[in-house]
Amino acid sequence: MQLINTKKELKSYLDSHKKTKTIGLVPTMGALHMGHIALVKKSVEENDLTLVSIFVNPTQFNNKEDLDKYPSTLEADLTLLKAVSDGIVVFAPSASEIYSGEIISKTYDFEGLENVMEGEFRKGHFDGVGTIVEKLLRLISPTRAYFGEKDFQQLQIIKKLVKIVHLPIEIIGCPIVREANGLAMSSRNERLDTELRQEAGFIYKTLKAAKLKFGTKSANFTMDWVKKQFNAHQKLNLEYVKIADVDQLKPVKRKNKKVKYRAFIAVYAGDVRLIDNIAL
Ligand code: PAF
Repeated sequence: MQLINTKKELKSYLDSHKKTKTIGLVPTMGALHMGHIALVKKSVEENDLTLVSIFVNPTQFNNKEDLDKYPSTLEADLTLLKAVSDGIVVFAPSASEIYSGEIISKTYDFEGLENVMEGEFRKGHFDGVGTIVEKLLRLISPTRAYFGEKDFQQLQIIKKLVKIVHLPIEIIGCPIVREANGLAMSSRNERLDTELRQEAGFIYKTLKAAKLKFGTKSANFTMDWVKKQFNAHQKLNLEYVKIADVDQLKPVKRKNKKVKYRAFIAVYAGDVRLIDNIAL
């Protein structure tokens, strides 16, 4: 398996593989888990070459502590990737290598997708995500890029990004992978102690129950019901629950059978912030 740290090496690798017909890119911040591995496997199946980027992007963190505590496990990440395929190429640049200059975000207009939910609670987050993803897409020019639906809002924003900046790259969303208790896989789960990690299964359990409620009740009723469940929970603190349409992420005014909705949630388990969502 090849590990590349600089843009120069990356360029020469890509130049010497021009014959490669298709390239799949899986952008990550490392601390890989089975959710990432599902993306990598899909890319390996669908492309001649798979590149995995590992870079903890400082500009998408609105909270310095969250950035400082973000797990970094490069050796273990490489072992996991090698087990999928020895042919995978890993691009793990430093911040100065990738930003070459001031480490700041561009400002994007994602037509409102960036102002709700994660955008409302994590100011500047999606400008940071857009900046790094645009950089990676321009450097690598993959045929396809793979993102998990756990970050569903991010996925919709990246689909919008490639339209806005005219990059002919297929953006592929992949289903959420869950732990045995239903907790959506996330690098942040490693920061939960055993008890909280077990308790956090309550998030998905509540989302599944909310899906059933939404079958017969309004969005407001369903969201209030979710809030009540978390109010009664000792260990988990709800930051938000929203029900929105999948394309524009606008809150539901009146349910429309032709529109697809999802419920989105952010929850604190101790000081660890977890997000999840479910198709309704
Ligand atoms: O989803 C992530 O891990 C990050 O937001 C991404 C897409 C790798 C950009 O830093």
